Amino acid sequence: MLQQSLPSEITQLKPADTDGRIQIAREKLGKDLIILGHHYQRDEIIKWADFRGDSLKLSQIAGEHPEAKYIVFCGVHFMAESADILTGPDQAVVLPNMSAGCSMADMANIDQIEDCWESLAEQTDITRVIPITYVNSTAALKAFVGKNGGACCTSSNARKIVEWALERGDKLLFFPDQHLGRNTAAQLGIDPESEMLVWDPHAANGGVNAKAIADSRVYLWKGHCSVHARFTTAQIEQARRDVPGVQIIVHPECSLDVVQAADAAGSTEHILKLVTEAPAGTKWGIGTEINMVSRLARECPDKSIFCLDPVICPCSTMYRIHPHYLLWCLESLVNGEVVNRVRVPDDVATHARVALERMLAIS
Ligand code: 13P
Ligand code: SF4
Repeated sequence: MLQQSLPSEITQLKPADTDGRIQIAREKLGKDLIILGHHYQRDEIIKWADFRGDSLKLSQIAGEHPEAKYIVFCGVHFMAESADILTGPDQAVVLPNMSAGCSMADMANIDQIEDCWESLAEQTDITRVIPITYVNSTAALKAFVGKNGGACCTSSNARKIVEWALERGDKLLFFPDQHLGRNTAAQLGIDPESEMLVWDPHAANGGVNAKAIADSRVYLWKGHCSVHARFTTAQIEQARRDVPGVQIIVHPECSLDVVQAADAAGSTEHILKLVTEAPAGTKWGIGTEINMVSRLARECPDKSIFCLDPVICPCSTMYRIHPHYLLWCLESLVNGEVVNRVRVPDDVATHARVALERMLAIS
C-alpha cells in the first residue's frame, strides 16, 4: 500500500502547532489508543510513545493490550505486521507512514526463499534444516518459517532461538540478515569459515556448491542492514585511541569482525539498559542508529556517549515517521476513519503467528 500525500493544511503546520493538535487528538482517543515507539524514532516522535522498546519488547507489548482499539506503531512496516498478527481482529494497527519499510527486510522475498528451500531440498535432507527468520522480514517469510517447523528471532533472543533450532535439526537456514545469523552461530562455537555459507538469491544455486551445502551447518541469507554496515573495526580502534577507557557496544547487525572487536553487542534495548545503568563517568562508543545514540547522550549527561561513525545517517525509513504523519493518523482516528491500517491476510497471519509465538515462548 502506498502512502497518500498529506493535506497541505497539515504539512504546513509549525512544530508547536503540530504538537498541540497531537496532544488534543491523543486525549480524545484516551484508552482506545496506545502509541508504540521503536528506539530509532526521532525525539519529536518518541516523546509521544506510551511504550518504547526494541522489536521484541514492542511485539510483546502489542499482544498485552487487548483493551486498545488502536495501536499506532511508530516504527517500520514489519514491526506493525508483527503487532497485527499478535493482536485481536478488532484491534487496528496503524503505521503513520506506509513508506516506512526496512531495506534489510526487502532483501528476501517469499519467492526467493521458496526457491532456495527447493534447491536445498534437492541437495540435503531438508527435514533436518530448521528455518529461522529475523523479525525484520515480511509476514510471508514468517509464515513460511511457521509452516516449516522454524521460528522467528530478534536481536534480543537470537542465541536462544538458534540453540533451540539446533536441538531440533542439524542445520539452519537463517534469513534475511547474514550478520545476526553469523554472529549468533559464531557465539555458539560454529566456525564461520568452514561451517557457514552465504546463500546469494541472485546467483545460480545461491552461489554455492554441493560440498559447501553438505559441509555447512548454517546457511546464511545474503542480506544486511545498510545502517549497521557502516561500522568498522577501524572506527573502534580510533575510538580506543582517542578516548582512553572507552567501552564499545554495537548492535549484532554489525559484521562479525566489528562485533568481535567490541566489548559487548546487543539489541537496542540491551544497549540502552547497559549504558543507562552504567556508573557515572563511564565512556561509551556505540555502533547503532544515530537518533538512539544522540538521545542516550542527552539523557545520560553524566556519561560520555558517542556514535562510532561520526557521519552516520539515521535509518532513513524509521525517519519517515514525521510528526505530521502521526497527527494525520490520530486526527483521522478521532474522526472515525482508520487510515494506514496494517493488516496481514488471515492465511498468512495464521502461520506467521505460529513462528512468532514459538519465539515468544522460547524468549
Ligand atoms: P532491535 O530489535 O534491537 O530493536 O533491532 C531492530 C532493528 O531494526 C535494528 O536495526
Ligand atoms: Fe531495517 Fe537497518 Fe533500519 Fe533496522 S536500522 S529498520 S535493519 S534498515
